[in-house]
Amino acid sequence: MPKSKAKKSGGLHPIETASRDEISALQLKRLKWSVKHAYDNVEPYRAKCKKKGVHPSDLKRLSDLSKFPFMAKYDLRDHYPFGLFAVPRKKILRLHASSGTTGKPIVVGYTMNDLDNWANLTARSIYAAGGRPGDMVHVAYGYGMFTGGLGAHYGAERLGCTVVPMSGGQTEKQVSQIMDFKPDIIMVTPSYSLVVAEAFEKMGIGPGEISLRTGIFGAEPWGEGMRGEIERKLGIDAVDIYGLTEVMGPGVASECIETKDGPVIWEDHFYPEIIDPETEEVLPDGEEGELVFTSLTKEAFPVIRYRTRDLTRLLPPTSRSFRRFAKITGRTDDMLIIRGVNVFPSQIEEQILREPKFSGNYQIVVTRDGHLDNVEVRCELQPEVSGKLTSSEVQTAGKELQHHIKTIIGVTTKISVLAAGALPRIEVGKAQRVIDLRPKQS
Ligand code: DLL
Repeated sequence: MPKSKAKKSGGLHPIETASRDEISALQLKRLKWSVKHAYDNVEPYRAKCKKKGVHPSDLKRLSDLSKFPFMAKYDLRDHYPFGLFAVPRKKILRLHASSGTTGKPIVVGYTMNDLDNWANLTARSIYAAGGRPGDMVHVAYGYGMFTGGLGAHYGAERLGCTVVPMSGGQTEKQVSQIMDFKPDIIMVTPSYSLVVAEAFEKMGIGPGEISLRTGIFGAEPWGEGMRGEIERKLGIDAVDIYGLTEVMGPGVASECIETKDGPVIWEDHFYPEIIDPETEEVLPDGEEGELVFTSLTKEAFPVIRYRTRDLTRLLPPTSRSFRRFAKITGRTDDMLIIRGVNVFPSQIEEQILREPKFSGNYQIVVTRDGHLDNVEVRCELQPEVSGKLTSSEVQTAGKELQHHIKTIIGVTTKISVLAAGALPRIEVGKAQRVIDLRPKQS
């Protein structure tokens, strides 16, 4: 019988409890490799460094990283699809993608080693959440180009768990399968977990009858209030997992169940910085700013000083030797996260403007009904057709827009087609496209 390639997991990796000096030494060694790797193999990154007058040989201490240029989402868009890959395409074993501001997705790739590291780090994350080999893990993150489903899946397998690759949706089936299979752990977005919890409630199944012990939640912001609600409704411990497509996917940082005090950054693979988003200065630990990541081991798609746009602060180590960050308080840009799907107003705008009957005046109203986000897109008819179309023509245009937004962006919206001039005009400053009426996370 061929030997399984899966590494034995379980227990802490020695680096998780190493001294800060050991961690810094490893980070510096890996950082030098990673920056040189990107410089040598990613032409647009080399050009950026040259423009800034820096060279990998300038990196003598960890703090020297601040001399290097940032990378941001627009770099990925500008070099879509494979322009920032540091290895030949044939060395790439998997691609993942995420939505982008122009409607063009961003694409990332993984070598065999990258996938191996990803599985190990997600396994480490599940272990930190109290998962152990032999546990059953129900994965309700979406499978596909989104990193959530497959990221969680391979991490759980790597830890030696039984994986239920359920993906999102089909709430009744989620519930009956959880009752039949009796999983120990669920991995799902926090908002969807509450929908599942409601379905349990409707069926008269109380938290004491649900086998789940722990939930590992991420892909969207969620506060402590939400943690309490999930824990109460499902009768579980709820921990936070963080990640982003550009940096890897889920498992960049994850919370330990014994402390539940913010995601621990797997600092042996990702070097964090917090910057002032305006001045781009590096801020000391404890100060709130934009989270920036540098990958230390990634081969296919190294990121050096990648601006996540997520706002948080770095916290000192507690249950592991690595630093943590506080729950994400928001983003520096205008991205909306609707039921775990990233949505940019410009993507909706793009779809509205495919229909010549609609003008460029629109509003996106986001509300929360119970635990789920609802999006209303209010758009206006062009003056030349306004009042001249039959109600069925107006309805058809609205339905078509709804369909385009659903199939291309992936969110369900309510469309309100209004007469020309119905929406308020902003006389001074920028148009306010998004009206976000959701309560702030506590
Ligand atoms: O959401 C990866 C992921 C999947 C993480 C499953 C955790 C679980 P993207 O779709 O690229 O990747 O979105 C990344 O989502 O920059 C944050 O703004 C937000 N986000 C992800 N995890 C958390 C979290 C995945 N735990 C963007 N708390 C990030 C708050 C989160 N926001």
